[in-house]
Amino acid sequence: MPLPILEYLNEIPPYVPGKPIEEVAREMGITGAIKLASNENPRGMSPLARQAVAERLKNGHRYPDSASFELKEALVRRLGRPAESIVLGNGSDEIIVLICLALLQPGLSAVVPRPGFSTYRTAVRMTGATFREVDLSDFRQDLPAMARAVDETTRVVILNNPHNPTGSALTKAELNSFVRDLPPDVLVLLDEAYIDFAGPEVARGLDLADGRRPVAALWTFSKIYGLAGLRVGYGVLPLDLAGVVERIRMPFNLNSLAQAAALAALGDTGFFEETRALVRRGLAYFYEKLEAQGVWCLPSEANFVLVKIEPHPARVGARAALAEMSPAQAAHQLLLREGVIVRPLDNYGLPQYIRVTVGLPEENQRFIAALAKVRGQ
Ligand SMILES: Cc1ncc(COP(=O)(O)O)c(C=O)c1O
Repeated sequence: MPLPILEYLNEIPPYVPGKPIEEVAREMGITGAIKLASNENPRGMSPLARQAVAERLKNGHRYPDSASFELKEALVRRLGRPAESIVLGNGSDEIIVLICLALLQPGLSAVVPRPGFSTYRTAVRMTGATFREVDLSDFRQDLPAMARAVDETTRVVILNNPHNPTGSALTKAELNSFVRDLPPDVLVLLDEAYIDFAGPEVARGLDLADGRRPVAALWTFSKIYGLAGLRVGYGVLPLDLAGVVERIRMPFNLNSLAQAAALAALGDTGFFEETRALVRRGLAYFYEKLEAQGVWCLPSEANFVLVKIEPHPARVGARAALAEMSPAQAAHQLLLREGVIVRPLDNYGLPQYIRVTVGLPEENQRFIAALAKVRGQ
């Protein structure tokens, strides 16, 4: 007899990750592929973080510090918020899940942008709550429509600023008035995984997560700090919510290597600034070269860019076999053959678009050359 697994859990689609370089080598025999599919830091880890991990490894037989004391103290200094309001997670993914567990259950609802980062669906549906998606408008999160979607069952609104996968961002004025007008028992969960790449006019959740408003702001060490493989996310939450998240998290959710790496990375301001500058230059390069190819892309406040695939690659040269695929999938397959891994956005409901992470200058050049070839140029 099948086990009585909760139906709403069975409905959660599995996560589709960016293709690892090793898989491309194994499946297609392509060596030297480059991955521009998961918005990672192309420069690798900060050397200081690498050193800190090597040092901490000597104590690999000891349990980690459950309170992540040193890292939390460094974040208190950095963020100017009390330690009791700061939570750490095994990636910001985990904090999103814990917040949903604290606030949602069957009969309640969360309002989220569509398209949006897939963890939102997993985290909300895991609790049995209703997942209410609100379409973007002109590639931007539609705050008036999201406010209209809030009803008496709503406990959480998730916003992603800058937004994955478009790279669009909310202004301070937009976000302030949205938060001001929401009912006080609705948490605004601001996922700011990419905020460190954004320009000064983009809204900052830290300004709103001041303990007086129902706002949680989340950040990650996976992007600008280059620690995606070590899994560290952090956030500032309203005190009551932070307290409950502290109690329900697993005691050792941050392993000791992750704690050491994050602390060191936080202190490496040179690495942070250089990454930021590299990404800004990479974006400018993409805009210029894509425009020269006659390819549409959306200006981005993050470390990736949304690129429209038009015409369908099946209409270029003798490629009838690709006609069954979406333009994004066809472009993805053809770019793979050139050793360039990007993210086709069918899963996000954008079958005409791919998302391309800014890489090192030579990687960006390789993508641009490969795309020209795919487009028959
Ligand atoms: C919008 C968004 N939020 C959160 C995350 C997850 O970050 P972390 O690696 O800290 O779990 C990502 C990672 O790709 C992301 O794109």
